[in-house]
Order: sequence, then structure tokens, then C-alpha cells
Amino acid sequence: MARVVVLGSLNVDIVAHVETLPRPGETVAAVRPIVRLAGGKGGNQAVAAADAGANVVMVGAVGDDEAGRAYTVRLAGRGIFPRLAVVHGVPTGTAFVTVAASGANAIVVAPGANAQARAEVADLLEGDVLLCQLEVPVEVVAAAARLAARAGARVVINAAPYAALPADVLALADPLVVNEVEAGQLADSGAVPGSLLVTFGAAGASWDGERVDGVPVPAQQVLDTTGAGDAFCGALAAALARGDDRATALRWAATAGADAVRRVGAQPDPQL
Ligand code: RIB
Repeated sequence: MARVVVLGSLNVDIVAHVETLPRPGETVAAVRPIVRLAGGKGGNQAVAAADAGANVVMVGAVGDDEAGRAYTVRLAGRGIFPRLAVVHGVPTGTAFVTVAASGANAIVVAPGANAQARAEVADLLEGDVLLCQLEVPVEVVAAAARLAARAGARVVINAAPYAALPADVLALADPLVVNEVEAGQLADSGAVPGSLLVTFGAAGASWDGERVDGVPVPAQQVLDTTGAGDAFCGALAAALARGDDRATALRWAATAGADAVRRVGAQPDPQL
């Protein structure tokens, strides 16, 4: 069975729930106790791919600390094979997440060990899917994408947070996944990917012109949008690994993204 190999970040999300997000210079009070949840775009996407039925390997890096150990155990417990470097003297990545009552969020990431992730993907096979985001160094993603392409694996890159990728890597991405903001940054750069999938949140997504409608979620059911894009990417990769066509993969992805906003945290049962 084809695998989804996720190369990416693992973060401890320190989450504060507030009524409205603070403006610059403003202090607001949390409306619930702070929680410590599993996150990071890589980890979120790996969990989403596994929950969508894929055989998943997670490639990344954690610190030699309690959070790194807990996350490694968590991944294994969700059926994901953790291929993680343990970096000494650097903490596991941390994200400071603020979630408003509307479900909107603001996030600051301290990369920690994620900055030391390596392209440990030499065992990729034809038909596998390599899924990357850009919370690990771009040159590591580029090296992994080139290895994957040589092996005949499919390369899916979620350019989040946005960073410029080498032209040959952009050409390998099938697809490059961006949200509307990242799509604007990509357009401003003048770079052209081989295949482009733009997500529009509740309004759906478009992959090289093939559209899928969003799955409607009533406003009162939107609890937290953190990780919705990751759920989309993970489910998309799982669908592509099992051979679904674009339209089917897009529908799976849109459904997973919609499901994600109905729960608090970036992953199901996210306590770390
Ligand atoms: O995409 C959501 C994720 O972004 C959070 O889990 C946080 O860790 C940041 O990486």
C-alpha cells in the first residue's frame, strides 16, 4: 500500500482562548485556562492523513525533552511511524496560539528543533506521496522533493507559511497547496508552480481550475479554525496515495477541513 511520508514540523501549541483577538498594543484576558496541545503543520497533516486511512511516516525533529517524548508516543499511538531526530540542547517547537470566539486565530511559532529536521526520505517508493510544509527549512524540503521525484513518488507541498521555493521544486509539486494569502504572495513572486491548488476556506478550493465547493459549517459550530488547512492537506495526500482522482481527493480534503473547524485544537484529541 502506498504511503504518505510527511516531512514537517511538530509543535506544542500553547493555546489561549479569548473573546476577540488583541489588536497591536492591546491586552486581552483569556476566557478559559490555557491548554497545551499537539500541533505543528507537519504533525497536524500526518494525523489527518492517518485518520483518512493512510499508512503514514512522520519525518521531523523534536527536542530531547518531555514534549518531544510525549509527541513521539502520541504519533505512534495514532498509528503513525515516527522517524524523528532528537536534537539535544534545543526545545521541541512551540506555537503560541490565540483563538477568538469566532474561531479565528493568530499564531506565533518558535521553531526550536524543527529547524534541524532533515530530508530522511531515501526510502520513498513509486506511488508514495511526500507531503511537506514550510515550517522546516526550505532547503530540506527541496532536497526531499528531489529525492521523492527521483524515486517516482508524488510531491505535495503546502507552502505555509509562505516562502520562496526553487523553480525546479515548484515544478515538482503536484500540487503546490496555498491559501488565498499565500496565493497572493506566490503571485507577487512571479514564480509559477507545475500544479496549483488554492484553498478558499469555507468557499472551497480550486486545483488547476477544477473546483470543489466548501462544506458548509454553521457559524455557531465553528469552534477553532487552527489546523483546518492542515486537515485539508493531510486528507488530500491520503486520497492521492490511494489513487483517488482530483475531484474525489478534493471532496475528501474539503470535508476534512470542514470537520476540523468543529473541534478545539489542530488535531483530534490534541492534549499533549
Ligand atoms: O496550522 C496550524 C499550526 O500552525 C498550529 O498547530 C501551530 O503549531 C502552527 O504550526
